[in-house]
Formats: sequence, C-alpha cells, structure tokens
Amino acid sequence: MPFKPSNPAVVMPNGIWSPWAPAAVIHVGAEAEVISGSWIGRPAILKKRVSRGYRHPKLDRTLSRQRIYAEGRILSRLNERGILSPKLLSMDQEEGWIIMSEVKGPTLLSTLEGGAKGDIEVELGKSLRSIHSQGISHGDLTTLNAIVSLDGIVLIDYGLGRLVAELEHLGLDLHSLHECLTAHHSDRPEAMNKVIQGYLLDPDSDGFDGRAVVDRFESIRSRVRYHA
Ligand SMILES: Nc1ncnc2c1ncn2[C@@H]1O[C@H](COP(=O)(O)OP(=O)(O)O)[C@@H](O)[C@H]1O
Ligand SMILES: [Mg+2]
Repeated sequence: MPFKPSNPAVVMPNGIWSPWAPAAVIHVGAEAEVISGSWIGRPAILKKRVSRGYRHPKLDRTLSRQRIYAEGRILSRLNERGILSPKLLSMDQEEGWIIMSEVKGPTLLSTLEGGAKGDIEVELGKSLRSIHSQGISHGDLTTLNAIVSLDGIVLIDYGLGRLVAELEHLGLDLHSLHECLTAHHSDRPEAMNKVIQGYLLDPDSDGFDGRAVVDRFESIRSRVRYHA
C-alpha cells in the first residue's frame, strides 16, 4: 500500500507508523491545499497540489508535477547552502505533494497590515538577495509568500521558481514585489526603496552583482510603464 500523506490515520493499514501526522487544514488556495501537522514529531506542512477543473486533466497533472518538482529542488538546494528557508522533508512528484518544516510566524502581509516597524522591508530585501545570490529566482514574490520568523524573513512557495535563473527572472522578482507593495501596501510609500536598500547591503559578502538585478528591475519597470 503506497504511503498516502492525506490519510488522516497515523497508523497505516499495514500497521506501520506513518511519519506524517496531520493536524489541520490551514489554507485552500487556487492551486494547493496546505495542511499543518508533524513529520516524525516535528512541526511540518504538507502541500498538496489540487487539480483545477478548468484545465485539461493531462496539462493539469503536468503543471502540478512541474511545480512540486521545482519547489522540492529549490528547497533542497537552499537547505544544502544553508540559506534560511523551510527544510524539505519529503515529496512525491507523481502524487503531487511535498512536506517541509513549518516556519513559525505571521505572513509579511499581516505584519505590514498590523503596522510593522520601519525597517522590515530592508530585511525582506536581504532575504531575497540571499536566494538570488544562489542563482535562484522565486517566481511569485508577494508579501503573502513571506513569513516573519524569529530568525528573519523566510520566503516560501517556490513552485514557480527557477533553480538556474536568468537576470530577467531575478529582475522580475523585484518587479512582482513592487507591484504587490504598490497594490496592497500603499500606506508605506518607502517600502520598495527599503527593499532595494536591503538587497544592495553588503555587496561584497557573496560576490553577487545585486546592482545588475536592480538595474534590470528598473528597465522592466519602464518597459511596463511604456506599454501600459
Ligand atoms: N513552510 C511553511 N511554514 C508555515 N506556513 C506555511 C508554510 N508553507 C505554507 N504555509 C502557509 O500556507 C499558505 C499557502 O502556502 P503556499 O506555499 O504559499 O501555497 P499557494 O501556492 O497556495 O500560495 C502560506 O501563505 C502560509 O500561510
Ligand atoms: Mg503562496
């Protein structure tokens, strides 16, 4: 009997303990269902891709497998490099699920809405740089895909990320973030400048050319403005 993380029973039918014990559904999104629980006794998150009725089943399956695979590969690389991120614990690309460590803390969205202290965006910029400096892009950067933990801001949701990103993908991450900040956090007009300040801090620490990414972001922004 294959291991089914969605099975609420902790003991599997063959009498073997499942390492995964579900606790609660915490999010039902357009593409995924997220369940909190534990993995071998540690707080963990199970993310299952749900099928979209409006898509062709075959395409749907291909896309969800691609996203699980991307997320697993990226988490694994970040873990290996010691970059602050959820730890990859288990995954099944065929069945379309992934289990990672739970990051404790509110989302950046709710922290900002609650009137966060001044320099939290600088922290976000630093976290983004640490991912980018590994050559990885996020692909869906919003304040909902960032958790404010005691260790710093942890980015999550790498299903649209790229393990080997081009400069354009890195620039687009800053651009999506900018759009999100403009749309949802207009009460903090300095937010994007602070992100960039954090992103460019400590330029010699990792040998990464953050300036080139910011320049690309500026040119994407003027391109978009021109066509708007
Ligand atoms: N590793 C994690 N630790 C804590 N919360 C998480 C974790 N992963 C996801 N979540 C929670 O579940 C929500 C949805 O997860 P996410 O990976 O962003 O899925 P989706 O693709 O549906 O946006 C997040 O906004 C966050 O609140
Ligand atoms: Mg998300």
